[in-house]
Amino acid sequence: MIITRKIEFSASHVCRKPELSEEENRRLFGLAANPQGHGHNYVVEVSVEGQPDPVTGMVLDLKELKDVLTREVVTPYDHRFLNYEVPPFDRIVPTAENIAHDIWKRLEPHLVGDRRKLRQVRVYETPDLYVDYFQEDVCSG
Ligand code: NI
Repeated sequence: MIITRKIEFSASHVCRKPELSEEENRRLFGLAANPQGHGHNYVVEVSVEGQPDPVTGMVLDLKELKDVLTREVVTPYDHRFLNYEVPPFDRIVPTAENIAHDIWKRLEPHLVGDRRKLRQVRVYETPDLYVDYFQEDVCSG
């Protein structure tokens, strides 16, 4: 089974690489390269896959899930200028793709369990655009 919880945060970013010229940044990122930055209301859907506990009937405690998402994602990201306030975005461009990967790395250690694992992180940058990050199962054979 897959259980999904949605969270939201608002953050600013600018899509540019400091080592590139102004012209090159404009070419790669367009208006999003404007150094002043701009904001998004990000929506994140976190999906956990697992088998329900035979006693509780739950894949995981929803209160615990909410607490982890708040602590690991909402608190560090909300109302921040990502490039200046939230590592690793001082070094990598805070695209939706990179944000999804960073959220995965923040959450994965807290959500893995005997009968469950993090399945997917979906990040909506706008209502019309989202990115899914997940990892293929590693084949040990
Ligand atoms: Ni943007």
